[in-house]
Order: sequence, then structure tokens, then C-alpha cells
Amino acid sequence: MNLESLNKKFEAIFSCKPQGIASSPGRVNIIGEFTDYNDGFVLPCALEFNTKVAFSPRADNQVVVHSLQYPNEKDNFSLSTDITQGNSQWGNYIRAVAFVLKRSGAQLTGINLLIESNVPQGAGLSSSAALEVAVGGAFNHVNKLGLNEQALALFGQQAENDFMDCQCGIMDQLISAKGQVNNALLIDCESLETSSVFLPDDLSLVIINSNYPRKLVESEYNQRRIDCEQAAKKMSVNTLRHSTIKMLDAVKKDLTINEYKRAHHVITENIRVIKATDALKNNDIGSLREQMNESHQSLKNDFEVTVPATDGLVEICKEALQERGAVRMTGGGFGGAIICLCRAEDIAVIRKAVKNNYAQNFNLEASIFVCQAGEGLTIIE
Ligand code: GLA
Repeated sequence: MNLESLNKKFEAIFSCKPQGIASSPGRVNIIGEFTDYNDGFVLPCALEFNTKVAFSPRADNQVVVHSLQYPNEKDNFSLSTDITQGNSQWGNYIRAVAFVLKRSGAQLTGINLLIESNVPQGAGLSSSAALEVAVGGAFNHVNKLGLNEQALALFGQQAENDFMDCQCGIMDQLISAKGQVNNALLIDCESLETSSVFLPDDLSLVIINSNYPRKLVESEYNQRRIDCEQAAKKMSVNTLRHSTIKMLDAVKKDLTINEYKRAHHVITENIRVIKATDALKNNDIGSLREQMNESHQSLKNDFEVTVPATDGLVEICKEALQERGAVRMTGGGFGGAIICLCRAEDIAVIRKAVKNNYAQNFNLEASIFVCQAGEGLTIIE
């Protein structure tokens, strides 16, 4: 939706003009999965899909939220009393952001918010991080909190960890806040330093959503984080970032099978992120293919977060692209999407292969998105 129509809708609902619009994107991760909460490396890029939040300050202490995606639901809560969960699932993300900002001591005034988003939901493309960062951006602007992108990302992560009960890492919020057009970002999740990695012009970014219904995602996700932390503890390091396969093998007998496998994935994945970053810089699709392929196998066998539908999609695309593309699952797993990097002329090859082989074997329709790396959080006044 263009800004003018969003402004008009805002005026129709709140009888005033918005002060501004905060826009924040979804993301796709090229490589580096489940390494973020282990202080490791990730290589995501922001997408052109984004969530826009039109906002205006209010004279009272109320937060009043409407969403164009859910026209029959609205949320309304006070900043003067304790902020707790409400009935609206998407509304809880706004409550979560207000909760962590307020907890940090920020003085917040009431606000009107109208949300509009084209980030596909449930596809593992971080629609919730896009919402958190955009809402944080709106609060920041209205209250002149002076928070930079990194601080807004950290508040978004806290909102997930401490209000939504998802023990996620920092990747999604940080890339949503700091993404750069035409670039991926190599993020060191320990120092939070980022460096941009230009995506070669002749490389297309194709995302295929399996549309597999994701179930029990949060409990499985949180359990994997516990397994990683236990493995680190048994190696006497703060996080898996500071461990090696040699150290892991030395304590193997003290670890559960799952602790061993989860740590094995994380340690090897960190090495793959660095190799894949070099491959991208050199436009070396052969090396990129190798790293992404190994990443997928490790997520399937060691981290155990793939499902037959995403494994199947990866196989279909690998078979179709052969040495001309790099393919793996992407995001939080248990369904969601896969990512293919290939030349533009091979997009048609992928479409055909998916059409001929996916629905008939998995009884699901896939959605295919050809994407560009987009811009991080922006505030339009
Ligand atoms: C989800 C989380 C991220 C990250 C990925 C897996 O997207 O929000 O923090 O852990 O899963 O890489």
C-alpha cells in the first residue's frame, strides 16, 4: 500500500493526520542458523517486504492500535498500569515493545498506531521482528527517546524473550533495523558489529515458502537453546562461539546426544558463515553452494529443525539447478521457507521444478518470491 492511502486510512480511523510512518522489513537469512543466540555469526539480508506503522501522539496514556490486516480486531491498553497480555495475538507484540521500553525507564506518552504489512506471515521471514522494530521506531520518534537501530533491535529481542516467551537471538531484529539495499549484513552476534556484503548483481534471491503448517515451534526452539547452553557449560565456555569441535569431542561422554548434535551444528555453522561470506564477495557460486548445502544437512541431521516438506523443496531445487545454484532451508525451521541463490535465467527452471514436483508429493502449494535486498528501519515524516 502506498503512503498516501495509509495516511488516508489513518485519518479515517483516528480523525487526525499521522505524525509519521515507521517502516521496517522482513528478512531472509542466507546462512548462519541458530548461531545468533550462541554469540556466533549470521549473514541475513533485509527484504523489500515491510511492515509500516503510521503513528501520532495522544494527549492521554492510551495505546490504541488498528491493523489493516485484521480490520475486526483492535487493541487498546494503558501505559499507566502494568502491561499484560491481551486477546489479540498481533496486539501482544505492540504490548511487548511498550512493556520493555517502559521497564527500561523510558517515559512514554499515549500513541495511535495503524499497522499495514506485506511480510508473509508464518513463512519464517520475520514478520514479528519487522513489527517490533517498526513499533519501537514509532515510540522512539514520538517520545524522542534517541535510541539508535541497535538499541531498537535489542528492545525488540527483549520483547520476544521477556513478554512473548520466545528465547530468540538478535538476528531478525538487527537486520530489520539495519538492513541495506543490495547488501547482506555479516553480523557478529557477540559484539553486534555488522559489515555489509554486496550481493552480486547477477545473483537472484528466490525464497520458496513450503506453506507447511508450523507447530510447537516455540517449545522446540527454546529447548534447542537450552541444549546449546548446556553444551557450552560442559565445555566451560560462556557460549558456543568460544568452542571448537576438538573441545566438543573431549567432553562428548558428558553430553546428551542432543547436546552434542546441537553444539556440533553451531560450531560448524559458524565456520560455514565465514566461508560463505568470502564466496559471496568473490561471486563464487560453487563455494556458496557447498556451504549452503552443508548447512542444510547439518540443520536436518544435527539440529533437527527441517521437515519433509522443506527437505523435499531443497532436493527439488538442487536437482533442478545442479551446479548453477545454492539452496538450503532458511529461518527458524519446522516448516517455513527455503532460499535459492541462482542466476536470473534459472528462476523459470525453479518455478517449473516446484510446480511439477512439490504439490504432488507433499500435498501443499508452495509460494515463490523473487526478492531484492531492501532497506532497514526508516521513519518517514
Ligand atoms: C528465528 C529467531 C532468530 C534465529 C533464527 C534461526 O528466526 O528469531 O533469532 O535464532 O530463528 O537462525
